[in-house]
Amino acid sequence: MTGPKWKFVPITEKPNLEAFDCGIPELNDYLKKYAGQNHRKGLGSTYVLIPADGEPFAAGYYTLSMAQVELGSLAESQRKNLPKYPVPAVRLGRLAVDRKWQGTGLGEILLVDAIHRAVAAVQSVAAKFMIVDAKNKKAEEFYLRYGFHPFEGGSHSLAAAIDTLKELFTK
Ligand SMILES: CC(C)(COP(=O)(O)OP(=O)(O)OC[C@H]1O[C@@H](n2cnc3c(N)ncnc32)[C@H](O)[C@@H]1OP(=O)(O)O)[C@@H](O)C(=O)NCCC(=O)NCCS
Repeated sequence: MTGPKWKFVPITEKPNLEAFDCGIPELNDYLKKYAGQNHRKGLGSTYVLIPADGEPFAAGYYTLSMAQVELGSLAESQRKNLPKYPVPAVRLGRLAVDRKWQGTGLGEILLVDAIHRAVAAVQSVAAKFMIVDAKNKKAEEFYLRYGFHPFEGGSHSLAAAIDTLKELFTK
């Protein structure tokens, strides 16, 4: 499907969220009711994908915050050469695309932008992993395609080393 050109804005720029529907009520509600206040309170930064021109409707969004992971919960291949105490991470808490645009590449655009932002952030504040809380098995499969590995942080939690993501996505 050919569509508009897109850009990201922080949720504080007040894009139009009303019609957003990704098919998961919890993710719709988060965007409409909580994302703005959480962004302002420093609890989670939300970036919204809107058309570069015209009506600024939300086609997708993601939320980032700082986190830490217990070493023991990580896949064995990811634990190598790391200390025993919890390791700093960037959490991609939520990521969703409006149903109208699903399957058109926007999920990947959101993920790559989130990775770019995480890579930029770790130049000033250290983090070893990006962790993702996928909402269900289907979403988990989306992240598995991009170098994320399941870990025991919760059901459908995945992690990828930021160095690996940087290699893959910031060329
Ligand atoms: C999961 C989601 C973010 C994917 O976004 P999308 O815009 O539909 O995905 P894209 O069009 O960018 O797809 C990128 C690639 O991933 C694949 N893909 C998309 N969804 C997939 C899934 N659930 N499982 C496996 N692969 C998937 C696509 O086929 C595509 O691969 P291709 O380029 O080889 O064809 C989107 O479907 C969504 O918002 N779902 C509801 C909310 C949700 O589950 N969010 C994630 C958890 S918080």
